[in-house]
Amino acid sequence: MLPRRPSCSATTALISLGSLLLLVCGLWLLVTIFWLQAPSNSVPHRAPPPRGSPGTEPQACGVVPEAWRFDCYPERGVVVTRELCEARNCCFIPASSSPPALGRNGVPWCFYPPGFPSYSLVSVNATDLGQTGTLVKTVKTYYPKDILTLQLGLLYETDNRLRVRITDPSESRFEVPIAVPKATEKASSPAYSVELSNEPFGIIVKRTSTGAVLLNTTVAPLFYCDQFLQLSSSLSSQYIYGLGEHRSSFLHDIHWNTLTMWARDVAPTELTNLYGVHPFYLAMDEGGTGTAHGFFLLNSNAMDVVLQPGPAITWRTIGGILDFYVFLGPDPTSVIGQYLEVVGYPAMPVYWALGYHLCRWGYGSSNATWDVVKNMRNYGIPQDVQWNDIDYMDRSLDFTFDPTAFSTLPDMVKDLHSHGQRYVMMLDPGISSVQPEGGYWPYDEGLRRGVFINHTDGSTLIGKVWPGLTAFPDFSDDVTHEWWYDNLKRFHDKVPFDGLWIDMNEPSSFVDGSTVGCPDTELENPPYTPGILGGLLRAKTLCASAVQKTSSHYNMHSLYGLLEAKASCPEAYVRKRAFVISRSTFPSQGQYSGHWLGDNRSHWKDMYTSIAGMLTFNLLGVPLVGADICGFSEQTEEELCVRWTQLGAFYPFTRNHNSIDQKPQDPPAFSPAARSAMKQSLLLRSSLFPLLYTLFHRAHTHGHTVARPLLFEFPKDVRTYGIDRQFLWGKSLMVTPVLDPGVDYVVGYFPQGLWYDYYTGDSIRSKGEELRLKAPLEHINLHLREGAVIPTQRPNTTLFVSSGQPLHLVSSLSEDGSAGGELFWDDGETGSTNTITFTSSLPIASYITVETASFYGVKMEPTRVMVNSHDAAFTYRANQVRLGVRSQRLSVF
Ligand code: NOJ
Repeated sequence: MLPRRPSCSATTALISLGSLLLLVCGLWLLVTIFWLQAPSNSVPHRAPPPRGSPGTEPQACGVVPEAWRFDCYPERGVVVTRELCEARNCCFIPASSSPPALGRNGVPWCFYPPGFPSYSLVSVNATDLGQTGTLVKTVKTYYPKDILTLQLGLLYETDNRLRVRITDPSESRFEVPIAVPKATEKASSPAYSVELSNEPFGIIVKRTSTGAVLLNTTVAPLFYCDQFLQLSSSLSSQYIYGLGEHRSSFLHDIHWNTLTMWARDVAPTELTNLYGVHPFYLAMDEGGTGTAHGFFLLNSNAMDVVLQPGPAITWRTIGGILDFYVFLGPDPTSVIGQYLEVVGYPAMPVYWALGYHLCRWGYGSSNATWDVVKNMRNYGIPQDVQWNDIDYMDRSLDFTFDPTAFSTLPDMVKDLHSHGQRYVMMLDPGISSVQPEGGYWPYDEGLRRGVFINHTDGSTLIGKVWPGLTAFPDFSDDVTHEWWYDNLKRFHDKVPFDGLWIDMNEPSSFVDGSTVGCPDTELENPPYTPGILGGLLRAKTLCASAVQKTSSHYNMHSLYGLLEAKASCPEAYVRKRAFVISRSTFPSQGQYSGHWLGDNRSHWKDMYTSIAGMLTFNLLGVPLVGADICGFSEQTEEELCVRWTQLGAFYPFTRNHNSIDQKPQDPPAFSPAARSAMKQSLLLRSSLFPLLYTLFHRAHTHGHTVARPLLFEFPKDVRTYGIDRQFLWGKSLMVTPVLDPGVDYVVGYFPQGLWYDYYTGDSIRSKGEELRLKAPLEHINLHLREGAVIPTQRPNTTLFVSSGQPLHLVSSLSEDGSAGGELFWDDGETGSTNTITFTSSLPIASYITVETASFYGVKMEPTRVMVNSHDAAFTYRANQVRLGVRSQRLSVF
């Protein structure tokens, strides 16, 4: 706990500096606010081909353009023949561009003909929130258990949010157990209009202001069988983002790209399902108008999401209901805000979460871990948090520590605390079911309280993880949360850890299903299995038929990491802000934890793809995200590690982590030059803490992104749409890292406007162009967009110390000499706001002050600078058009 960490109070002061105006108001330092103009014009939507009257005759098939062919035979491992295809009453046309044996990653050879049987809308009635309707169909599909009558609910929840629910009126089906807002009144002036097509049934959602079609589900038949639900829609453009968790570019490829979702333990690889599941996308409206919208399918079952060049999308899930939202934006930032209004804004992190974290698998002992910390201190390299991987545990058992190799762990943690540092260690969900001598409380007590996931016959499901045979807590049960808390508390009494790293929570198991296999049921072998790695739902996890309190594992699987994270930060236990980093994630995760991007490799490509991962998780409401700096598996090299530390200094969550048996890759392990470059970038991060903290507060209160794609700030500039080698912190600080070996320059795109080199204040006036920038090994390019004021702070080796240092404001003036920015400040741990003391009508912080300010772009040397009507000392560098000011009256508290 910081000794005297102050927060702002509701006092207003006005400070004017030359042409700059700073207005300090309450918790926010508000300078001058410029709003981006809302884009207005639109371009008509390119309509998909009509799905006219029924018929599979070749000419009807031939009229369907390749880009609009929706796959009628998505099963894997099947060579689709004409016979198989026509048995489904679908069109079979071998496509020129596809490999012969499959249509899955190319144009489908077997596709729905115009008029393929679907549902009809037979009645519509008005409700308090919108409309309800009945959908019926008479012809069964080729999957079992068609639900022939459906209920449609259209809920006009807010002016910018439409919700659509398609349910089975005769039987309740599984629904994702996360809390979403309940609207009570119909939106009064929605930004969308909804048209319903009766025959075949379809929904068309348009943006009222422009007429742009955001959704059109008439493009392919709707399926609603017990274990096969499929909805297709046109997309309004090829620019689509989100749909995590996948390793890909930030902008998704829509050329027959199937993204499968089912939580899975696997090192990030293209084209496979990964640790987390996020059925949300953000898309730009067509025509480069800068308007954007979003779509969220609230469904946790295994699913494929197919992108095709129509542009169109297909959601193919094997359970639950169709319950989706459309968010109208109209700009990318508001789309994300509207999505997060539904799933929850991310938690405000504890201040030290934003510092530098050091970790590895295989330190081997607490003394070896401690030595690394001491080494970092000796070199004066910033470090806020030390971590341990599973090797701290006694025989890999949760809630224990190795009494020999880690005997000094409690002392190390004490020492960390006395240096203002923190300690985080790993927990895996698998609880050893083999009794170590003397019993094992977590398992014994867990069994007694009935917290574990069972087979259908009521026996405990046993899988295998690090300790050997393990049972898996059912975090969908409150009783399990209490038991987990009791375990945490008992361990905390011995080792006063500060945060948790929850790994392997897909949940991962080294045997498929369980040690005794899984029963042969419809849940284990559904009629259709999405393209999940391993081909089976139980691959490297639990039986799909396993029983959890809320529902079967078939429905609950991808929620495991979310519910474990929720159990890991109970309010009773964590009186301060909790710190949890989880590998598996699901929508609303940001409320409970951050995320790291998993087991990357020490490759340049992995460093590059980490940017897309980081940006995507910012869209998904989990802004506290980063990748293993320097790479997890395989041996890193010095140059890569330096460049990665520079980039990693701009991950919202910054942790260097390494795999077992790899050489050390903490900064002191490298040459003096490399070490010094790493130290510089970490000090730079520490100096930017006030900005980062403020951005997190914006994320927490408004659902904004922290690490931000350029397209969010320049949505009318189509050249920004595919950028994932650069990014912004907030609206103004642009990061252009080096991502390639052996170079001392980097090419970056500068959207139109005036930019300033962050370090020198040198200006660049860009027409919207790529520029080649110098980038020697010790340098990461940072540029400030015109019109910004960012708060910085004198750095130190811990945020505990540096966050008490005086602030320095950096301003980048626009042509008209104005600039604006904001600062959020509190005690960093509890949100407490009452520790400030005042000495006069102008509040003076007892602990933190603004001492100095720099202004980039001051064209003429001033003769006098006044702060609040008092003369201030200043320096002016004509060659850099840069003004420096020092005054006690700059203080904003
Ligand atoms: C898998 C995690 O992804 C990795 O970070 C960790 O080091 C290993 N498990 C060992 O616990």
